[in-house]
Amino acid sequence: MPSKLFITTLQGTKPGRPPFWYMRQAGRYLPEYRELRATAKHFLDLCFTPEKAAEVTVQPVRRFGMDAAILFSDILVIPHALGQHVAFVEGEGPKLKALEDPSEIVLLSPDAVEERLAPVFDTVRRVRAELPPATALIGFAGSPWTVACYMLEGGGSRDFQTARRFAIAHPEAFRALIKLIVEASYRYLSEQIRAGAEAIQLFDSWAAIATEAEFREHIIAPTRTLVARLKAAFPAIPIIGFPRGAGALLADYARETGVDAVSVDFSTPLAWAASNIPPHVVLQGNLDPVLLAENIELALKQAGRICDAWGGRPFIFNLGHGMLPHTPPEHVARLSDYLKARA
Ligand code: CP3
Repeated sequence: MPSKLFITTLQGTKPGRPPFWYMRQAGRYLPEYRELRATAKHFLDLCFTPEKAAEVTVQPVRRFGMDAAILFSDILVIPHALGQHVAFVEGEGPKLKALEDPSEIVLLSPDAVEERLAPVFDTVRRVRAELPPATALIGFAGSPWTVACYMLEGGGSRDFQTARRFAIAHPEAFRALIKLIVEASYRYLSEQIRAGAEAIQLFDSWAAIATEAEFREHIIAPTRTLVARLKAAFPAIPIIGFPRGAGALLADYARETGVDAVSVDFSTPLAWAASNIPPHVVLQGNLDPVLLAENIELALKQAGRICDAWGGRPFIFNLGHGMLPHTPPEHVARLSDYLKARA
Protein backbone atom coordinates (compact mmCIF):
# COMPACT_ATOMS: atom_id res chain seq x y z
CA MET A 1 0.00 0.00 0.00
CA PRO A 2 1.47 3.36 -0.96
CA SER A 3 1.60 5.77 1.97
CA LYS A 4 -0.87 8.61 1.71
CA LEU A 5 0.51 12.12 2.21
CA PHE A 6 -2.68 13.25 3.96
CA ILE A 7 -2.46 10.43 6.53
CA THR A 8 1.29 10.62 7.20
CA THR A 9 0.91 14.38 7.76
CA LEU A 10 -1.87 13.76 10.29
CA GLN A 11 0.48 11.28 11.97
CA GLY A 12 2.96 14.11 12.46
CA THR A 13 5.38 13.76 9.55
CA LYS A 14 6.29 17.08 7.97
CA PRO A 15 5.44 16.70 4.27
CA GLY A 16 7.49 17.95 1.31
CA ARG A 17 4.44 19.86 0.10
CA PRO A 18 1.31 20.42 2.15
CA PRO A 19 -1.47 17.92 1.35
CA PHE A 20 -4.73 19.67 0.50
CA TRP A 21 -8.48 19.22 0.32
CA TYR A 22 -11.31 21.73 0.63
CA MET A 23 -14.27 21.72 2.99
CA ARG A 24 -17.47 21.33 0.92
CA GLN A 25 -15.34 20.37 -2.09
CA ALA A 26 -18.27 18.40 -3.50
CA GLY A 27 -21.20 20.63 -4.32
CA ARG A 28 -23.00 23.18 -6.36
CA TYR A 29 -19.93 25.03 -7.73
CA LEU A 30 -19.32 21.94 -9.93
CA PRO A 31 -21.56 21.54 -13.02
CA GLU A 32 -21.21 17.75 -12.79
CA TYR A 33 -22.60 17.91 -9.22
CA ARG A 34 -25.56 20.05 -10.31
CA GLU A 35 -26.30 17.58 -13.07
CA LEU A 36 -26.38 14.62 -10.67
CA ARG A 37 -28.21 16.64 -7.99
CA ALA A 38 -31.02 17.23 -10.50
CA THR A 39 -31.65 13.48 -10.70
CA ALA A 40 -32.59 13.31 -6.98
CA LYS A 41 -35.73 15.03 -5.74
CA HIS A 42 -34.65 15.53 -2.14
CA PHE A 43 -31.14 16.24 -0.92
CA LEU A 44 -31.32 13.32 1.54
CA ASP A 45 -32.18 10.98 -1.36
CA LEU A 46 -28.84 11.95 -2.87
CA CYS A 47 -27.08 11.23 0.45
CA PHE A 48 -28.83 7.84 0.74
CA THR A 49 -28.27 6.61 -2.82
CA PRO A 50 -24.80 5.07 -2.57
CA GLU A 51 -24.10 5.03 -6.30
CA LYS A 52 -24.82 8.78 -6.63
CA ALA A 53 -23.27 9.82 -3.31
CA ALA A 54 -20.08 7.93 -4.21
CA GLU A 55 -19.96 9.63 -7.59
CA VAL A 56 -20.25 13.16 -6.14
CA THR A 57 -17.63 12.30 -3.51
CA VAL A 58 -15.13 11.42 -6.23
CA GLN A 59 -16.02 14.24 -8.70
CA PRO A 60 -13.79 16.96 -7.20
CA VAL A 61 -10.83 14.58 -6.82
CA ARG A 62 -11.07 13.64 -10.48
CA ARG A 63 -10.93 17.31 -11.47
CA PHE A 64 -8.43 18.74 -9.00
CA GLY A 65 -6.42 15.83 -7.53
CA MET A 66 -6.93 16.60 -3.86
CA ASP A 67 -5.01 14.43 -1.38
CA ALA A 68 -8.27 13.49 0.34
CA ALA A 69 -11.92 13.02 -0.56
CA ILE A 70 -14.65 13.71 1.99
CA LEU A 71 -17.61 11.38 2.15
CA PHE A 72 -20.74 12.90 0.64
CA SER A 73 -23.36 13.01 3.38
CA ASP A 74 -24.51 15.69 5.82
CA ILE A 75 -24.22 16.41 9.52
CA LEU A 76 -28.04 16.39 9.77
CA VAL A 77 -28.37 12.69 8.92
CA ILE A 78 -27.88 12.12 12.67
CA PRO A 79 -31.12 13.89 13.70
CA HIS A 80 -32.78 12.00 10.84
CA ALA A 81 -31.45 8.68 12.20
CA LEU A 82 -32.63 9.63 15.69
CA GLY A 83 -36.15 9.92 14.32
CA GLN A 84 -36.48 13.70 13.96
CA HIS A 85 -38.08 15.01 10.78
CA VAL A 86 -35.37 16.62 8.59
CA ALA A 87 -35.87 18.18 5.16
CA PHE A 88 -33.76 20.42 2.94
CA VAL A 89 -35.82 23.16 1.36
CA GLU A 90 -34.56 24.54 -1.96
CA GLY A 91 -33.04 27.98 -1.37
CA GLU A 92 -33.77 27.93 2.38
CA GLY A 93 -31.47 25.25 3.78
CA PRO A 94 -32.33 22.58 6.34
CA LYS A 95 -35.70 22.48 8.14
CA LEU A 96 -36.15 20.20 11.16
CA LYS A 97 -39.19 19.69 13.35
CA ALA A 98 -37.70 21.53 16.32
CA LEU A 99 -37.58 19.79 19.71
CA GLU A 100 -39.53 22.10 21.99
CA ASP A 101 -39.87 20.22 25.23
CA PRO A 102 -37.57 18.02 27.38
CA SER A 103 -40.13 15.19 27.10
CA GLU A 104 -39.37 14.92 23.37
CA ILE A 105 -35.68 14.21 24.01
CA VAL A 106 -36.45 11.22 26.20
CA LEU A 107 -38.24 9.64 23.23
CA LEU A 108 -35.20 9.73 20.92
CA SER A 109 -33.03 6.62 20.65
CA PRO A 110 -29.69 5.94 18.92
CA ASP A 111 -30.62 2.31 18.27
CA ALA A 112 -31.57 2.78 14.61
CA VAL A 113 -28.39 4.65 13.60
CA GLU A 114 -26.62 1.68 11.99
CA GLU A 115 -29.73 0.61 10.10
CA ARG A 116 -31.02 4.01 8.97
CA LEU A 117 -27.57 5.17 7.87
CA ALA A 118 -26.55 1.89 6.22
CA PRO A 119 -26.56 3.48 2.71
CA VAL A 120 -23.84 5.91 3.87
CA PHE A 121 -21.57 3.00 4.82
CA ASP A 122 -22.21 1.48 1.41
CA THR A 123 -21.12 4.82 -0.12
CA VAL A 124 -17.88 4.65 1.88
CA ARG A 125 -17.12 1.17 0.52
CA ARG A 126 -17.81 2.26 -3.05
CA VAL A 127 -15.65 5.37 -2.76
CA ARG A 128 -12.72 3.41 -1.33
CA ALA A 129 -12.87 1.08 -4.32
CA GLU A 130 -12.84 4.02 -6.74
CA LEU A 131 -10.31 6.46 -5.30
CA PRO A 132 -6.74 6.58 -6.61
CA PRO A 133 -4.37 4.69 -4.26
CA ALA A 134 -2.73 7.88 -2.89
CA THR A 135 -6.03 9.62 -2.05
CA ALA A 136 -7.38 9.26 1.48
CA LEU A 137 -11.07 9.14 2.42
CA ILE A 138 -12.35 11.35 5.24
CA GLY A 139 -15.51 10.40 7.13
CA PHE A 140 -17.31 13.03 9.20
CA ALA A 141 -20.03 14.01 11.60
CA GLY A 142 -21.23 17.26 13.10
CA SER A 143 -20.11 17.75 16.65
CA PRO A 144 -22.69 17.30 19.41
CA TRP A 145 -23.08 21.06 20.10
CA THR A 146 -23.72 22.02 16.47
CA VAL A 147 -26.10 19.10 15.85
CA ALA A 148 -27.99 19.90 19.09
CA CYS A 149 -28.30 23.54 17.97
CA TYR A 150 -29.98 22.49 14.70
CA MET A 151 -32.25 19.98 16.50
CA LEU A 152 -33.51 22.61 18.94
CA GLU A 153 -33.63 25.57 16.57
CA GLY A 154 -35.31 23.66 13.74
CA GLY A 155 -32.92 24.97 11.09
CA GLY A 156 -30.19 27.48 10.44
CA SER A 157 -30.09 30.73 12.36
CA ARG A 158 -27.92 33.79 12.86
CA ASP A 159 -27.48 33.22 16.62
CA PHE A 160 -29.46 30.03 17.50
CA GLN A 161 -31.22 31.86 20.31
CA THR A 162 -34.03 29.32 20.60
CA ALA A 163 -31.48 26.53 21.09
CA ARG A 164 -29.44 28.55 23.57
CA ARG A 165 -32.54 29.49 25.57
CA PHE A 166 -33.45 25.79 25.78
CA ALA A 167 -29.93 24.95 27.03
CA ILE A 168 -30.26 27.53 29.82
CA ALA A 169 -33.89 26.74 30.70
CA HIS A 170 -33.49 22.93 30.67
CA PRO A 171 -29.84 22.14 31.50
CA GLU A 172 -30.49 18.48 32.32
CA ALA A 173 -32.42 17.85 29.11
CA PHE A 174 -29.74 19.66 27.10
CA ARG A 175 -27.03 17.48 28.67
CA ALA A 176 -29.09 14.39 27.85
CA LEU A 177 -29.41 15.54 24.24
CA ILE A 178 -25.65 16.08 23.94
CA LYS A 179 -25.05 12.63 25.43
CA LEU A 180 -27.47 11.08 22.96
CA ILE A 181 -25.72 12.75 20.02
CA VAL A 182 -22.32 11.57 21.31
CA GLU A 183 -23.64 8.00 21.35
CA ALA A 184 -25.26 8.28 17.90
CA SER A 185 -22.14 9.91 16.42
CA TYR A 186 -19.90 7.25 17.93
CA ARG A 187 -21.96 4.53 16.26
CA TYR A 188 -22.17 6.44 12.96
CA LEU A 189 -18.43 7.17 12.82
CA SER A 190 -17.47 3.64 13.91
CA GLU A 191 -19.42 2.21 10.99
CA GLN A 192 -17.85 4.73 8.59
CA ILE A 193 -14.41 3.59 9.78
CA ARG A 194 -15.32 -0.11 9.50
CA ALA A 195 -16.48 0.57 5.94
CA GLY A 196 -13.18 2.25 5.02
CA ALA A 197 -13.01 5.88 6.23
CA GLU A 198 -9.34 6.60 6.98
CA ALA A 199 -9.68 9.81 9.00
CA ILE A 200 -12.55 11.65 10.67
CA GLN A 201 -13.49 15.33 10.80
CA LEU A 202 -15.87 16.73 13.41
CA PHE A 203 -17.64 19.87 12.16
CA ASP A 204 -18.50 22.31 14.94
CA SER A 205 -19.83 25.03 12.67
CA TRP A 206 -21.54 26.95 15.49
CA ALA A 207 -18.84 26.89 18.17
CA ALA A 208 -18.74 30.71 17.98
CA ILE A 209 -22.13 31.21 19.64
CA ALA A 210 -21.14 29.37 22.85
CA THR A 211 -20.09 31.24 25.98
CA GLU A 212 -16.80 30.16 27.56
CA ALA A 213 -18.67 27.99 30.07
CA GLU A 214 -20.81 26.40 27.33
CA PHE A 215 -17.71 25.89 25.19
CA ARG A 216 -16.01 23.96 27.99
CA GLU A 217 -19.05 21.91 29.03
CA HIS A 218 -20.82 21.30 25.72
CA ILE A 219 -18.02 21.47 23.15
CA ILE A 220 -14.68 20.44 24.72
CA ALA A 221 -16.05 17.80 27.13
CA PRO A 222 -18.31 15.83 24.73
CA THR A 223 -15.71 16.09 21.95
CA ARG A 224 -13.15 14.63 24.35
CA THR A 225 -15.54 11.77 25.19
CA LEU A 226 -16.27 11.05 21.52
CA VAL A 227 -12.58 11.22 20.55
CA ALA A 228 -11.56 8.95 23.46
CA ARG A 229 -14.17 6.34 22.52
CA LEU A 230 -13.11 6.39 18.85
CA LYS A 231 -9.42 6.22 19.79
CA ALA A 232 -10.05 3.24 22.07
CA ALA A 233 -11.78 1.36 19.26
CA PHE A 234 -9.73 2.64 16.29
CA PRO A 235 -6.36 3.91 17.57
CA ALA A 236 -4.88 4.37 14.07
CA ILE A 237 -7.62 6.67 12.74
CA PRO A 238 -6.68 10.38 12.94
CA ILE A 239 -9.36 12.86 14.04
CA ILE A 240 -9.61 16.50 12.95
CA GLY A 241 -11.73 18.96 14.95
CA PHE A 242 -13.20 22.13 13.45
CA PRO A 243 -14.67 24.42 16.12
CA ARG A 244 -15.40 27.33 13.79
CA GLY A 245 -15.14 30.70 15.49
CA ALA A 246 -13.62 29.30 18.71
CA GLY A 247 -11.23 32.25 18.92
CA ALA A 248 -8.72 31.94 21.78
CA LEU A 249 -10.53 28.82 23.02
CA LEU A 250 -9.14 26.95 20.00
CA ALA A 251 -5.92 26.48 21.98
CA ASP A 252 -7.77 24.81 24.88
CA TYR A 253 -9.79 22.73 22.40
CA ALA A 254 -6.55 21.55 20.77
CA ARG A 255 -4.94 20.69 24.12
CA GLU A 256 -7.93 19.09 25.84
CA THR A 257 -10.04 17.16 23.31
CA GLY A 258 -7.42 14.66 22.11
CA VAL A 259 -7.89 15.50 18.42
CA ASP A 260 -4.88 14.94 16.14
CA ALA A 261 -5.50 18.14 14.16
CA VAL A 262 -7.51 21.33 14.32
CA SER A 263 -9.06 22.98 11.31
CA VAL A 264 -8.56 26.72 11.71
CA ASP A 265 -11.13 29.26 10.50
CA PHE A 266 -10.09 32.22 8.34
CA SER A 267 -10.38 34.85 11.06
CA THR A 268 -7.72 33.20 13.24
CA PRO A 269 -4.35 34.98 12.93
CA LEU A 270 -1.74 32.71 11.29
CA ALA A 271 1.03 33.61 13.77
CA TRP A 272 -1.30 33.13 16.76
CA ALA A 273 -2.21 29.61 15.61
CA ALA A 274 1.44 28.74 14.93
CA SER A 275 2.48 29.71 18.46
CA ASN A 276 -0.63 28.74 20.47
CA ILE A 277 -1.62 25.37 19.02
CA PRO A 278 0.66 22.73 20.58
CA PRO A 279 3.20 21.38 18.08
CA HIS A 280 1.87 17.81 18.33
CA VAL A 281 -1.50 19.01 17.00
CA VAL A 282 -1.54 19.33 13.20
CA LEU A 283 -2.90 22.57 11.70
CA GLN A 284 -5.40 22.60 8.85
CA GLY A 285 -6.66 25.67 7.02
CA ASN A 286 -7.42 28.48 6.50
CA LEU A 287 -7.96 30.32 3.17
CA ASP A 288 -11.00 32.59 3.03
CA PRO A 289 -13.53 30.93 0.65
CA VAL A 290 -14.88 34.38 -0.33
CA LEU A 291 -11.41 35.46 -1.47
CA LEU A 292 -11.04 32.24 -3.45
CA ALA A 293 -14.35 32.85 -5.20
CA GLU A 294 -13.70 36.53 -5.91
CA ASN A 295 -10.01 37.05 -6.68
CA ILE A 296 -7.71 34.18 -7.56
CA GLU A 297 -4.55 36.32 -7.70
CA LEU A 298 -5.04 37.57 -4.14
CA ALA A 299 -6.12 34.08 -3.05
CA LEU A 300 -2.85 32.58 -4.36
CA LYS A 301 -0.86 35.27 -2.51
CA GLN A 302 -2.73 34.47 0.70
CA ALA A 303 -2.24 30.72 0.12
CA GLY A 304 1.51 31.43 -0.05
CA ARG A 305 1.35 33.31 3.28
CA ILE A 306 -0.48 30.38 4.91
CA CYS A 307 2.11 27.88 3.62
CA ASP A 308 4.95 30.16 4.82
CA ALA A 309 3.42 30.66 8.27
CA TRP A 310 2.59 26.99 8.94
CA GLY A 311 5.00 25.13 6.63
CA GLY A 312 7.54 24.64 9.43
CA ARG A 313 5.29 21.99 11.01
CA PRO A 314 2.96 19.28 9.72
CA PHE A 315 0.01 21.08 8.14
CA ILE A 316 -2.83 20.45 5.72
CA PHE A 317 -3.97 23.16 3.36
CA ASN A 318 -7.71 23.81 3.37
CA LEU A 319 -10.22 26.62 3.32
CA GLY A 320 -11.20 28.44 6.51
CA HIS A 321 -14.84 27.38 5.92
CA GLY A 322 -16.79 25.64 3.16
CA MET A 323 -16.47 26.25 -0.56
CA LEU A 324 -19.12 28.71 -1.80
CA PRO A 325 -21.57 27.69 -4.56
CA HIS A 326 -20.50 30.57 -6.86
CA THR A 327 -16.76 29.69 -6.74
CA PRO A 328 -15.41 29.43 -10.31
CA PRO A 329 -13.97 25.90 -10.79
CA GLU A 330 -11.02 27.50 -12.64
CA HIS A 331 -10.03 29.23 -9.39
CA VAL A 332 -10.03 25.89 -7.59
CA ALA A 333 -7.91 24.42 -10.40
CA ARG A 334 -5.37 27.27 -10.16
CA LEU A 335 -5.12 26.95 -6.37
CA SER A 336 -4.75 23.16 -6.58
CA ASP A 337 -2.00 23.42 -9.22
CA TYR A 338 -0.22 26.00 -7.07
CA LEU A 339 -0.33 23.67 -4.03
CA LYS A 340 0.85 20.62 -5.99
CA ALA A 341 3.85 22.61 -7.24
CA ARG A 342 4.94 23.85 -3.78
CA ALA A 343 8.25 22.38 -2.74
O1 CP3 B 1 -17.95 18.12 0.02
C1 CP3 B 1 -18.27 17.98 1.21
O2 CP3 B 1 -17.89 18.75 2.10
C2 CP3 B 1 -19.04 16.74 1.60
C3 CP3 B 1 -20.39 16.83 1.99
C4 CP3 B 1 -20.92 17.79 3.07
C5 CP3 B 1 -22.18 18.42 2.93
N1 CP3 B 1 -22.48 19.06 4.10
C6 CP3 B 1 -23.05 18.34 1.73
C7 CP3 B 1 -24.11 19.36 1.51
C8 CP3 B 1 -20.43 18.13 4.34
C9 CP3 B 1 -19.09 17.79 4.97
C10 CP3 B 1 -21.43 18.93 4.97
C11 CP3 B 1 -21.30 19.44 6.35
C12 CP3 B 1 -22.35 20.33 6.88
N2 CP3 B 1 -23.70 20.30 6.65
C13 CP3 B 1 -22.09 21.35 7.84
C14 CP3 B 1 -20.75 21.64 8.45
C15 CP3 B 1 -19.87 22.46 7.57
C16 CP3 B 1 -20.27 23.91 7.43
O3 CP3 B 1 -20.59 24.29 6.27
O4 CP3 B 1 -20.28 24.63 8.41
C17 CP3 B 1 -23.32 21.97 8.12
C18 CP3 B 1 -23.54 23.14 9.06
C19 CP3 B 1 -24.33 21.29 7.37
C20 CP3 B 1 -25.80 21.54 7.38
C21 CP3 B 1 -26.28 21.96 6.04
N3 CP3 B 1 -26.38 21.13 4.94
C22 CP3 B 1 -26.73 23.25 5.65
C23 CP3 B 1 -26.78 24.46 6.57
C24 CP3 B 1 -27.10 23.16 4.32
C25 CP3 B 1 -27.76 24.25 3.51
C26 CP3 B 1 -26.79 25.26 3.06
C27 CP3 B 1 -26.30 24.92 1.70
O5 CP3 B 1 -25.08 24.98 1.50
O6 CP3 B 1 -27.16 24.63 0.85
C28 CP3 B 1 -26.86 21.84 3.87
C29 CP3 B 1 -27.08 21.30 2.50
C30 CP3 B 1 -25.90 20.67 1.82
N4 CP3 B 1 -25.04 19.78 2.42
C31 CP3 B 1 -25.51 20.84 0.46
C32 CP3 B 1 -24.38 20.02 0.26
C33 CP3 B 1 -23.62 19.82 -1.03
C34 CP3 B 1 -26.24 21.70 -0.57
C35 CP3 B 1 -27.60 21.17 -0.88
C36 CP3 B 1 -27.88 20.85 -2.35
O7 CP3 B 1 -26.96 20.56 -3.14
O8 CP3 B 1 -29.06 20.84 -2.69
